Amino acid sequence: MNHMPNQIPAQTFRDLDPEPRLLMGPGPVDVYPRVLRAMSVPLQGQFDPQFTQYMNEVMVLYRQVFRTTNPWTFLINGTARAGIEAALTSLIAPGDTVLVLVFGRFGHLLAEIAGRARAKVVTIETEWGTAFDPAEVEEAIRREKPKLVATCQGDTSTTILQPLADIGALCRKHDALLYVDATASLSGNPFETDAWSIDIASAGLQKCLSGPPGSAPITFNQRAAAMIEARRHWEAGIRPAGAIDGNGPVIQSNYFDLAMLMDYWSPKRLNHHTEAASMLYAARECARVVLEEGLDAGIARHRLASSALRAGLEAMGLELFGDARHRMANVTGVVIPEAVAKPDKLRTEMLTDFGVEIGTSFGPLHGKIWRIGTMGYVCRRQNVLRCLASLEYVLRRNGFAVAAGKGVDAAAAVYDQNAPSGAAP
Ligand SMILES: Cc1ncc(COP(=O)(O)O)c(C=O)c1O
Repeated sequence: MNHMPNQIPAQTFRDLDPEPRLLMGPGPVDVYPRVLRAMSVPLQGQFDPQFTQYMNEVMVLYRQVFRTTNPWTFLINGTARAGIEAALTSLIAPGDTVLVLVFGRFGHLLAEIAGRARAKVVTIETEWGTAFDPAEVEEAIRREKPKLVATCQGDTSTTILQPLADIGALCRKHDALLYVDATASLSGNPFETDAWSIDIASAGLQKCLSGPPGSAPITFNQRAAAMIEARRHWEAGIRPAGAIDGNGPVIQSNYFDLAMLMDYWSPKRLNHHTEAASMLYAARECARVVLEEGLDAGIARHRLASSALRAGLEAMGLELFGDARHRMANVTGVVIPEAVAKPDKLRTEMLTDFGVEIGTSFGPLHGKIWRIGTMGYVCRRQNVLRCLASLEYVLRRNGFAVAAGKGVDAAAAVYDQNAPSGAAP
């Protein structure tokens, strides 16, 4: 390929001007406009007292979002998997046994990351579309005696939410740590870091927090912090006089070394990376938006939207996917009807004719379900109705007969019973 400047097509220099979309897939979703505005404010140096104050505020805000008093609550720069890598890489020493609960694609991701950290990874798996019973988890913990148990709360690949209220206590009973990936679920479903005895949890912004991908809030308690601190090793160029390294094995990643990040986020402000300032502003605004609405009110809004969407889908003659007792409140799986021979063509038509994006699926569910997200800023009546109206049209064009208006009527009825038309979303 020729990279000479005169070969570059003129369109490469066009202004960015993306088509407006309504993002109703499994994430990312539309970013709250306040968050976009926060990202455009001027930058400051990372040790500017005003900027470090913003960092402290982020810690305060995310303690509330995670429902925790953990002092160690901050941001990892990177998408949600950066938070996962930081947690697992900083806790797992080579040879440690890690038990991973796999109920979808992102459980496999946890196992893969734990494996790269050279853990002895043991998985238990359940059929995609179902969740684990705590008794199964306890049996595996008894058998494998892991140092760490890792699980997703919500796995967007299957739309299922793993109940967690009992798992933390089980881990304590058997002296294991519990890590939870709450990327897909945080602030759209109940999440209680402290009340559920979760030792360490991480998330991303691009789902129910209505932000862009690129920042991963993380929180961990003293049990986890003690293990991490025992592995603290100082970077030669910034090593303070008299610093003593921890006696545990060095954490394999520098970028995701939580001991170093603790020093960076604590009053020590020991230099590590250059904080991604615009993402920090975004994360701060995401938390403010969520907390201003109130966590419980936000969760209720997600529940209402998914109930309305699901009523609409069923009224259109579609089948919902997964165990109804364990569905996430922010993403819905829909079984693709046999009559639709080309499911991806239908999704493309929704995008091009209506500007509405819905999700495909992975692994064993590929070609079997679509995934529709009702998360964060997008999770409101007008979007649910717009999605159903456009889906009805493209279903009809693609071989699946739907009576006109049925889906919208059923969804609007759910909203009307619970929040009259014209009320806040
Ligand atoms: C449960 C879960 N974990 C992790 C991720 C990975 O997030 P990211 O793409 O931001 O790294 C996702 C993304 O959809 C997810 O749903």
